[in-house]
This record gives sequence, C-alpha cells and structure tokens, in this order.
Amino acid sequence: MAIPETMKTYLLTGFGGFENLSYREDIAVPFPESNEVLIKVEACGVNNTDIWTRLGSYGGSFDDSNQSGWRGGAFHFPRIQGADIVGCVVAMGDNVNGELLGKRVIVNPTLYEGEGDSALFNAGIIGSECDGGFAEYVTVPATTALPINSPLSSAELSTFMVSYLTAEHMLNRSALKAGDHILITGASGGVGSALLQLAKRRDTQVSCVIGKGKENFALNLGADTVYTRDEIADLNDESVDVIADVVGGQQASALLDNLVFGGRFVIAGAISGPEAKIDWRKVYLKHLTILGSTMGTPQEAQDLTNYIEAEEIKPLLHATYALKELVKAQQAFMEKRFLGKLAIIP
Ligand SMILES: NC(=O)c1ccc[n+]([C@@H]2O[C@H](COP(=O)([O-])OP(=O)(O)OC[C@H]3O[C@@H](n4cnc5c(N)ncnc54)[C@H](OP(=O)(O)O)[C@@H]3O)[C@@H](O)[C@H]2O)c1
Repeated sequence: MAIPETMKTYLLTGFGGFENLSYREDIAVPFPESNEVLIKVEACGVNNTDIWTRLGSYGGSFDDSNQSGWRGGAFHFPRIQGADIVGCVVAMGDNVNGELLGKRVIVNPTLYEGEGDSALFNAGIIGSECDGGFAEYVTVPATTALPINSPLSSAELSTFMVSYLTAEHMLNRSALKAGDHILITGASGGVGSALLQLAKRRDTQVSCVIGKGKENFALNLGADTVYTRDEIADLNDESVDVIADVVGGQQASALLDNLVFGGRFVIAGAISGPEAKIDWRKVYLKHLTILGSTMGTPQEAQDLTNYIEAEEIKPLLHATYALKELVKAQQAFMEKRFLGKLAIIP
C-alpha cells in the first residue's frame, strides 16, 4: 500500500485552551523505527487524558501555576494527542514480527518503564509521552499493537482500551471475585461503564452511582441497584465488598460507610475534585484497604482483547467526529451530555 509523505493531524502546541490545537495537513508521516509499527489510523477514542494533558492539569494545581503533563516534568510540544488507537499495520521497523503487517490492531497505549509489576508505576501514555492517534498515521511500539478479530467497527473498538484497561486493573487490584458486591461511581462515563460491564462479567452484584436521569443506562448494562449522586450521601449499605471510584472529590468519606469489614476501596480518577475529607477511624476500625490504580498491565490488555473477540463486553459508542472536528468533539466531551464514548475518524 502506498504511504503518503504528509498527513492530516492536530498538533497540540502548548498547555491551555483550544487555541493550542492546530489542524495541519502538511505533517510528515512518521517512519517506524526498530521495534515499531506504522499504523494507518481508522479511529481514535476521546478521553479525559486528552483534555487534562491539553490543560496541563496533571501538575497538582488547577490554575496556570503548575501546568504539566501526565508524568510531571518537561512536556514536549508540538505533540499529537490521542491514546485509543485502532487501525491497520501498514509498515514495520526492524525486529518486528512480520505477521503484524496488514493486521487490524487495537493499541494498548501504556508505555511501560521496565519489567514486572513496577513497570506501571511511572508509565507513560501514547498521545502524551509520544505522538498519538489524532492523525492519519502513527508509529507505536510493536508490542502495544494487539491484533483483533471482531465484527465491530473501528470506531466501536476505539471506545475500549483506555477505559476498560483502567477498569480491569482496578478490579484486579481490588481482587473482585464472583459473588462479591461492588459499588461503582461515575457509571455513565467511560471507565464507570467499563467497570460495570467487567464486574458483571465476573458474576458479581453491582450497585452504581449515576447522574440523575441516567439510571436506565446502568440498568440496561446489568446493574442490580442504581443510586443517584444525591442518594449516596445518606446510604449506609454496609454490604459492599469493593468500591471502585473514578469520581473522587468530597463524597469519598460517605462512600466508605458502605463497605463491609475488610472492604476494599480502589480509586483511579478524581473528576469531581482532587481532595476529600476522610474520617480515618472508618478506615482503621473496619480494617479497610485503600488502593490507587492507573492504566493496566500487558496481560490485562490482552485479556480485554480476548473479551472483545468473545463478545463478553460491548462498545458504548455515542458519536463519531471527523478529524477536522476534534475541537467540537472535545467540547462535546467536556459538556458530558452523552452516555458512553466519542471517537475521532481521521
Ligand atoms: N488512572 C487512570 O489510569 C485513568 C484512566 C482513565 C480515566 N481516568 C480518570 O477517571 C475519571 C473518569 O474518566 P472517564 O473516562 O470515565 O470520564 P467520563 O467518561 O467523562 O465520565 C465521568 C463520569 O463521572 C461522573 N461525574 C461525577 N461527578 C462529576 C463531575 N463533577 N464532573 C464530571 N463528571 C462527574 C459522571 O457520571 P455520572 O453522571 O453517572 O455520575 C461522568 O459521566 C477521570 O478523572 C479520568 O481522568 C483515570
């Protein structure tokens, strides 16, 4: 297949507002180095990390005083964002298994540092530490390109990896097993709806906290019980084995009231705010475990690919946007007036 010299893409040129996103049609198509593949992008999902990275909000402050990328420290501009890549392998660097050529792949965007369990601790993410998929072509490490055999469209497949990898790792970190009762927050969002589907897949009892008016979304995905955000403040269920939280903020202390003795609280996001006031007596008197969790392991990424192929989880694609409409897509994403995921089609 003929590969052009230049491609259409969006460059992120600095931290801040949408004026830092620049649409270009003259950017050189990247060349796959050793151990890399070149992918013709067919779809790329939209995630909070695109927004947070553009705003520089990972730096620990929510004003302009401490802007940084995902891993802190220096961030290299210009950068092509987009972590949830699906496409076809069209070229390969040295040292890559030739069987990947021509294959449709879903990309695990985690850039591991080293080997074993600690490889996740300081991991990077495609679209932040290297260029991503809001472009016609992207190079990625060959080990991150996972062949997938599925009747789903590429836009549908691009809804999975970031959210479901995060969710599956949270469930593994909290050792969720069949018969457990799990309470999930942010259930209408990407990670929350992934937690719901993956928890049901494990034959657990699932309760969800969800925005008012969105209850049927969670019930249709198999939730056993649904609470609105207002109801959770006074809920004292005390039958919950695991809380999987991506909302964070001030509700954490009230959530802890619902855990059984020895319960586990796992958190991977703080979309409603980075701070909470916690009554630590609840934690030590009930022998609770609090776990942090980010992204997931290579094995978990492969497991997800297998679940998709076996149709054990289903995509929740709300809408697609052309590459040129990236700003419009991000505006819609930030307004949160939709259920599930959005995808960009280059
Ligand atoms: N650590 C990781 O590896 C990792 C990976 C992916 C995402 N994350 C983080 O996890 C969080 C959720 O990500 P996501 O992709 O699921 O996000 P999303 O699709 O935007 O969904 C977030 C959901 O949170 C709920 N919510 C509650 N309070 C909110 C508030 N004040 N503002 C906005 N939403 C609120 C909403 O659901 P309801 O209306 O149903 O309550 C919303 O649908 C984000 O903070 C994201 O940065 C972390």
